[in-house]
Amino acid sequence: MGVEIDQAFVQDPQHRPNLSITKAQGIPLIDLSPITTTNPSPSAIEALVKEIGSACKEWGFFQVTNHGVPLSLREKLEEASKKFFAQSLEDKKKVSRDETSPSGYYDTEHTKNVRDWKEVFDFLAKEPTIVPLTSHELDDTIIHWTNKSPNYPPNFRGILEKYIEEMGKLAYKLLELIAMSLGLEAKRFEEFLKDQTSFVRLNHYPPCPYPHLALGVGRHKDPGPLTILAQDDVGGLEVKLKHKSDQEQWVRVEPTPNAYIINVGDIMQVWSNDEYESVEHRVMVNSEKQRFSIPYFVFPAHDTEVKPLEELTNENNPPKYRPYKWGKFLIHRKDSNFQKQNDENIQIHHFKIA
Ligand code: OGA
Ligand code: NI
Repeated sequence: MGVEIDQAFVQDPQHRPNLSITKAQGIPLIDLSPITTTNPSPSAIEALVKEIGSACKEWGFFQVTNHGVPLSLREKLEEASKKFFAQSLEDKKKVSRDETSPSGYYDTEHTKNVRDWKEVFDFLAKEPTIVPLTSHELDDTIIHWTNKSPNYPPNFRGILEKYIEEMGKLAYKLLELIAMSLGLEAKRFEEFLKDQTSFVRLNHYPPCPYPHLALGVGRHKDPGPLTILAQDDVGGLEVKLKHKSDQEQWVRVEPTPNAYIINVGDIMQVWSNDEYESVEHRVMVNSEKQRFSIPYFVFPAHDTEVKPLEELTNENNPPKYRPYKWGKFLIHRKDSNFQKQNDENIQIHHFKIA
C-alpha cells in the first residue's frame, strides 16, 4: 500500500529500537511490606533501605510490590484512561493543553526532537500549581496552572484525585527510604514538596506500523527526583544498562502485575551529587497492540533551588553542579517541548561544574 511514515516520527538509525532484543536479567524487584505492614521490625526496614540504596546505585530503576496502593483504584484509573482515549480526536481536543496551562490532552510531544508515537493526558497533583510565567531569570512573575476537566468518562477527575493522593503517599515513603539510604534524615526531601509541581500522566501508545523506526517515547531521563510508573501487560519500556562499555545495552522491563516501576531522575542525581544517577529509558511501540501506562512524576516546588545537598558534599567531594531554580528549568522545558527544534533541551549537564 506504500503508506509512508511522517518523518517527524523517525528515529536516527543509532537510536532505533532493537526488535530482536534478548530478555536480559531484569531490574530489581523490591518488596515494600516492611513499611506497609503494621509493627515493622527495624531490621527489616534496615534491610529494605540497603536494597533500595543498591538498586538506586546500580540500576536507577526498580519495581516495588506490597506498596499499599489499592489495586482497585489503579484499575479504575486504567479503565477511565481507556475510555478517555477511545473517544474521537475531536472530543479529546476539547480538553487540549493550551498556553494558560500545559495540563490536558495532546498528541504532539517530541523527545530529543523526534515525535513520540503516543497521546497523553496530564493532570496536576496540586490545584492550582504555582509556577513562574517565563524561564527568564529576572522575571519573578508567578502564574497558576489548573487542570482540565473532561466530562467523559464520568468521575474522571475524582478518580484522578484519589490516585494522586495514593501516589503522594507512596512517593513520601520512597523518598524517606532513599534519604535513609544516602545517610540523610528520613524526612530530608519533604521541604521541597510543600508546593510541589508533581503531575500524573496518562499515556496511550496506539499500535504503530513502523515499530522499527519510531518510538513511543524516545530515549530520555526524567527531570524530577522520582517517577512512579504503572505499566499495563503489553510491555515495551526499556532501560539503559549502567555499565560503561562502548556498546549501549537496553533491558526490557517485563510487566509485573500490580507492581510499580520506580526510577530516580535528574534532581536525585544532583541532590546526591552523582551518587544515584538518573538513567535513560525509552518505550518501544508494538505493531499490533496498543499500550497504556501511567507515570506519576514527583516534581518539587517551583522555587526549589536544586543543588547537591550539603550533607553529601565536602572538600574531597565538592558539589558537582551549580544551583538551578526548578521552576525556571520546568518552564524552559515546556517552552521547547512544543515542536521539533534544532537546539538541545535544557539538561542538568548544563549546570555541571567542569
Ligand atoms: C515517561 C516514560 C514510560 C512508559 O513518560 O517519561 O518514561 O512506560 N514513560 O510509558
Ligand atoms: Ni520517562
